[in-house]
Amino acid sequence: MMFALVTFFRLCELPMKVNGIPQRTIWPTTDNQAVEIVDQTKLPHEFVTVRLNTMRDAERAIRDMQVRGAPLIGVTAAYGVALSMRHHASDAALQATCDMLLAARPTAVNLRWGVERMRALLAPLATEQRADAAWREAALIAEEDVEINKAIGRYGCDIIRTIHQRTGRTVNILTHCNAGWLATVDWGTALAPIYAAVEEGIPLHVWVDETRPRNQGASLTAWELGQHGVAHTVIVDNAGGHLMQHGKVDMVIVGCDRVTARGDVCNKIGTYLKALAALDNGVPFYVALPTPTIDWTLQDGVNEIVIEERTAAEVTHISGLADDGQIYTVRVTPPDSPVANYGFDVTPARLVTALITERGVVQADEKSLRELLL
Ligand code: MRU
Repeated sequence: MMFALVTFFRLCELPMKVNGIPQRTIWPTTDNQAVEIVDQTKLPHEFVTVRLNTMRDAERAIRDMQVRGAPLIGVTAAYGVALSMRHHASDAALQATCDMLLAARPTAVNLRWGVERMRALLAPLATEQRADAAWREAALIAEEDVEINKAIGRYGCDIIRTIHQRTGRTVNILTHCNAGWLATVDWGTALAPIYAAVEEGIPLHVWVDETRPRNQGASLTAWELGQHGVAHTVIVDNAGGHLMQHGKVDMVIVGCDRVTARGDVCNKIGTYLKALAALDNGVPFYVALPTPTIDWTLQDGVNEIVIEERTAAEVTHISGLADDGQIYTVRVTPPDSPVANYGFDVTPARLVTALITERGVVQADEKSLRELLL
């Protein structure tokens, strides 16, 4: 108990940093007229921040994936509503704003959660009260995200510590996509337990799936782990099964974009294959999530969750930094080959060892999930 408390207070003192300087992924400008974000399309080669002045800026940032990751999408959408209320606070404007933001990306339920929370607060208010109330609520949602992720970090750290105590050696953790600091306001979901464990001095190493086609693992997870001095190795997406067969993975932790009431998990494309390989090799497969990622309206994730299909260009082309210091984009497929680009897949609950939430670690089933809310 004492150990966990010490870890908790240390976590509170040590937010995520870039080049040693504390940095969130989204924050209000000092005049409270806009918000700024880290432009994730520029990482890992450039650290660039962008000012969002309007709801349309926020919507574009989500659509173009300057911000991405389910919790951060939700927070950005909430600020999008707040930015809109500054200019137009009528019922019609509120409706149009919510509709536009909801259409930005389909799969992460946190987008709907953030927008609907804003709408529920604002709709009953007089129009002249909406702008200030919206700004306060968006800031509150952002702060709550930080607290939620710290709690996920504590619970997940307990699991990592237990594995370390059992094996007495470095804990090898495999993760897919980016469910770290960059996918949230601070700390991350799947990476929060890793940061907490490193902070506690538990020796660990992270296998980072590159996560084609957008390479969130290679570009974002590797970068943020590097910023925090966490030992890691980038691997191609298909390497995980091989590593598990050879005893080189002690646990898998991933994030998620939507969890159904019965515990099916939707996350970045390729997650399902990792869960299958984990089951075959007796490797525990954990999913970290804030409770707003639970979609209580759905049961069967495979058949009910809308999977985002993205542009073929993400598959046909790849960008990177050349030796001359310039970013180039090159084609990797024959010009006439058709392409399909599914952004996410669903891992059935039966393949999930447990869900790590801010309220505790639970089995992936409806009874356990509902008990979380009691
Ligand atoms: O397409 P992205 O980059 O938004 O996908 C992100 C993921 O799949 C993450 O694992 C998920 O959103 C959880 S983020 C804490």
